[in-house]
Amino acid sequence: MSLINIREEQMEDKTAVLVVDDEAGTRDLFSRYLAGAGYSTTCAASGEEALDLFAKTSFPLVLLDITMPGLSGIDVLRQLRNSDSPPEVIMVTAVDDPAVAETTLELGACGYLVKPFEKNELLIYVAHALRLRELERKNREYRDNLEQQVQERTLQLEQAFSDLKASQEQLLHQEKLATIGHLAAGVAHEINNPTGYIGSNLGTLTKYMGRITEFIYLLDGYCSTLPPEKSAELAAARKNSKIDFLVEDSKDILIECLEGVGRIKKIVEGLKTFSRKDQNTSCLANVNDCLENALTVAWNELKYKATVEKDYGDIPLIRCYPNQLAQVFMNLLVNAAHAIDNQGMIRIKTFTENDLIVVSITDTGCGISPEIQNKIFAPFFTTKKAGVGTGLGLSIVTEIVARHGGEISVESEVGKGSTFTISIPVQA
Ligand SMILES: Nc1ncnc2c1ncn2[C@@H]1O[C@H](COP(=O)(O)OP(=O)(O)OP(=O)(O)O)[C@@H](O)[C@H]1O
Ligand SMILES: [Mg+2]
Repeated sequence: MSLINIREEQMEDKTAVLVVDDEAGTRDLFSRYLAGAGYSTTCAASGEEALDLFAKTSFPLVLLDITMPGLSGIDVLRQLRNSDSPPEVIMVTAVDDPAVAETTLELGACGYLVKPFEKNELLIYVAHALRLRELERKNREYRDNLEQQVQERTLQLEQAFSDLKASQEQLLHQEKLATIGHLAAGVAHEINNPTGYIGSNLGTLTKYMGRITEFIYLLDGYCSTLPPEKSAELAAARKNSKIDFLVEDSKDILIECLEGVGRIKKIVEGLKTFSRKDQNTSCLANVNDCLENALTVAWNELKYKATVEKDYGDIPLIRCYPNQLAQVFMNLLVNAAHAIDNQGMIRIKTFTENDLIVVSITDTGCGISPEIQNKIFAPFFTTKKAGVGTGLGLSIVTEIVARHGGEISVESEVGKGSTFTISIPVQA
């Protein structure tokens, strides 16, 4: 039974009895008996009239004669019991036939009273039927309440379970990142030393090459003083060995190598940021540097996809966890690169606004449809293929930003691109 029916029942007059009998004398008698016991009665002289009355008012109890012209008591009983809010029905009849009694009870009547009967007998039947109805109502209410409580508890448990699962996965994910960071920091340290002396040796080599080149040009001046055949021999040897090309190319090679070493140094610095050292301690740092470190580490994912445009503002240092902020920016940059199909643009902007440091990362990628914009920050939400994305990136980002007292928002248009904006208080 629906809640609406229960409410209707609660509003129904619990003492209202509908008396249905084609004999006026019986109707009057019943009305008198019932009124004397505090019930209010309404009378119907036929089955049809009874159904009409019942359609307008819902009675908790119907006293129903069986043998009537037109619709019989059994027909009326059938219709009443099939109604949305079926009443209790006591059959009242002069027919003392066990088979008929059984039929009516099977159809849902709660009593079968054979005329003639005593007043008390009728009142006991009526009181019993109404009490039964009340008990059934309470039972239903109790059951519905119970069901609702079970449903609520189940939902709470499911929510708690999925929260637990999400935080476990996040911990694992962060632990994994931290381990990678730790390893990376170790490797970075190992690479740091050879990179140092390769860089310094390349610098020395560049100087040496400069001097050798100067010396070659000096020799050039003396060539003209040699006998012609010696001078020609020297010129031929110089040509065969491509000395001029070697001198020029060596310069380029050395410049390239020095650039490469510079890049290795930058990557090593970036990797060091991801080490565990400052995991639990905050320090004063420049958010622009965190972005630079994130860019260095994410560069491999970005370089073939996007041109990166930087617009770093002159922002104050803030007390923060720089490695975690770098992790935030790395996640956003990698997401931006993933959103770009072929070639696009990623614009990074930082500025200060009302004691907030604002970082916006804009991409010209596929954009995010409005239906999923509020889902993307939830753990495990991903539109990427299995194995490509875990769907944890943005939830970790949200958590780290919140840890810094900040906020993250997204604006996006499908087909045009997205902008993720993070604002962090200068004094978190
Ligand atoms: N810049 C963006 N452009 C378009 N869609 C994005 C962008 N950033 C995030 N999304 C959408 O949000 C989803 C959730 O991102 P999130 O970083 O949380 O997980 P993921 O990138 O799918 O997986 P993971 O970061 O764990 O590798 C993505 O799958 C993608 O659909
Ligand atoms: Mg991601």
